[in-house]
Amino acid sequence: MKALVLAGGTGTRLRPITHTSAKQLLPVANKPVLFYGLEAIADAGITDVGLVVGDTAAAIEAAVGDGSAFGFRATYIRQQAPLGLAHAVLVARDFLGDDDFVMYLGDNFIVGGIRQLTEAFRTSRPDAQIMLTQVADPREFGVAELDQAGRVIGLEEKPQQPKSDLALVGVYMFTPAIHEAVHELKPSWRGELEITEAIGWLIDHGKTVRSTTITGYWKDTGNVADMLEVNRLVLETIESRQDGTTGAGCEIIGRVAIEAGAHVSGSRIVGPVIIGAGSTISGSYIGPFTAIGQDCVIEDSEIEYSILLRGASIRGVRRIQASLIGHEADVRRAPQVPQVHRLVLGDQSMVQISS
Ligand code: TTP
Repeated sequence: MKALVLAGGTGTRLRPITHTSAKQLLPVANKPVLFYGLEAIADAGITDVGLVVGDTAAAIEAAVGDGSAFGFRATYIRQQAPLGLAHAVLVARDFLGDDDFVMYLGDNFIVGGIRQLTEAFRTSRPDAQIMLTQVADPREFGVAELDQAGRVIGLEEKPQQPKSDLALVGVYMFTPAIHEAVHELKPSWRGELEITEAIGWLIDHGKTVRSTTITGYWKDTGNVADMLEVNRLVLETIESRQDGTTGAGCEIIGRVAIEAGAHVSGSRIVGPVIIGAGSTISGSYIGPFTAIGQDCVIEDSEIEYSILLRGASIRGVRRIQASLIGHEADVRRAPQVPQVHRLVLGDQSMVQISS
């Protein structure tokens, strides 16, 4: 069995971060979200992994390399434009050959791995197996309709009137039967080849499509709120670690991981928090569920429930909450009266000011 990991796409919902970065490399507790999926794939015993990449190919390749760090062989498959999940299957045809495969969306986060799911698929080998989970608002997802016996009888992409509250999780398992289905597809109203339609084609042509309803935690980290939520969940499990240094006047409460070369002084840190290598924190409050990337600076500030990417700095600002702050972004207090807001923001930035 092979794996096909989708690491292209546009990432519109995470702009402006995705103007310059691959969304799959955004960190969750200081580790790219993509890596959690790759580890789950390796854990399921899969050694041949194709990564579908788009404009951010170079960054994804630099991060994943030849795959040996994960214990598999990585093959990169270039998708010229993000024309849909089924289009990714189409462009990966040569890599996939006639093997069964698991398709994994590179920005999805699943607790508990996929080992049991792949074992169940290998044993019963339906033409396709999809994973479902109950969601509060199915209109934002691909939604499955099941019959009385629990068989999948239809799928709809982001329906206005959902026929169930069971959303498709971003992990699918396919036999080579899917290739004929993706060949038959026409672009949907949003101009994409939809995997839901390909699976619908299988159902209409008498193929077996099984579903498993997962009860564990699943999130698509496609927007800021979900990124922060997954970051919170992973930070809940971190261990205290002090590989960096702490100076005078520090109060460290709860589980706090301070990575090598980081320095904290005169600050109150209430975990769970991770402070990345080379960062300096002084005269500040860092509250729960905050992940500070490498080489960040936080001075005389307060921040909680947030993610800072490498090289970001915050000086003299209180209090920042539920924020995603990009690489080398510089947030600082206005130096003199009048206290005005001065903003130099990237395209499609989003700022909420409380005064
Ligand atoms: P999505 O989150 O559905 O799409 P997107 O990346 O275009 O994001 P947005 O809706 O915010 O514009 O994609 C799920 C995963 O699949 C994600 O890791 C990107 C990847 N993908 C591809 O590799 N190729 C594609 O053609 C598409 C649509 C997505």
